[in-house]
Amino acid sequence: MKVVLLGPPGAGKGTQAARIAEYLNVPSVASGDLFRDHQKRDTELGRLARSYMQRGVLVPDEVTISMVTEWIETEAGDGGFLLDGFPRTLGQAEALDGALSNADGLDRVLYIRVANDELVRRLTGRLVCRECGVTFHRVSNPPPADGACGDCDGGELYEREDDRPEAVGKRLEVYFSETAPLIDYYREAGILREVDGEQSIEDVGQELVEKLGGAS
Ligand code: AP5
Ligand code: MG
Ligand code: ZN
Repeated sequence: MKVVLLGPPGAGKGTQAARIAEYLNVPSVASGDLFRDHQKRDTELGRLARSYMQRGVLVPDEVTISMVTEWIETEAGDGGFLLDGFPRTLGQAEALDGALSNADGLDRVLYIRVANDELVRRLTGRLVCRECGVTFHRVSNPPPADGACGDCDGGELYEREDDRPEAVGKRLEVYFSETAPLIDYYREAGILREVDGEQSIEDVGQELVEKLGGAS
């Protein structure tokens, strides 16, 4: 199955991606994680991406599209994939359709819906593991008491640079102008399924898995 996770910053895409990928037995990738990995390795692409991400705006389509389509070609194989955070412009969606045109296209777009005030709460309390990328939240999903990651071997937790209040406001603005139009784009294609993201992490995951199949 070829699946996309769509939703505003802080909706819980990263939190749910591992579970869905495991359920489907497909590789998954977050475009944001690919960019953060380039930054860690201090590549040219990483330095370019950082200049946009820091400000909470999107990295230009051309570099983003070639990075993700290359990942699909080299990592995804024939069994499908899960994409988190790509596409997020109409240009990216059309490029993805083009890249998949001889493979039946996407099967599902799972849209995680969360209201703005809750998104701000989630982003401002988020902690991310530097080693394995797993996400915690100071209040709703706290890490182990010693403040280290409980998922890998005690990796260090940090706050993302773009979770500062100024960048969060900008990211939400950019989401509504650039990415929200994809909801209708995929609804018209008949592959969009909407999930209420303001339930427990467990219940959101359950509903996402249910919406992978079935007609509604
Ligand atoms: P990216 O890394 O994709 O960030 P994002 O879309 O802004 O989304 P987040 O990762 O912030 O949120 P999430 O939905 O994964 O939420 P999470 O699971 O962590 O992109 C970063 C930047 O990279 C972009 O701004 C852009 O510059 C660039 N970029 C990336 N892709 C691009 C593209 N395609 N084109 C151009 N540029 C691109 O959860 C958030 C918090 O909430 C956590 O603390 C979590 O523990 C908590 N939480 C999760 N679920 C629940 C729940 N059900 N209840 C309570 N708390 C919860
Ligand atoms: Mg994420
Ligand atoms: Zn970890």
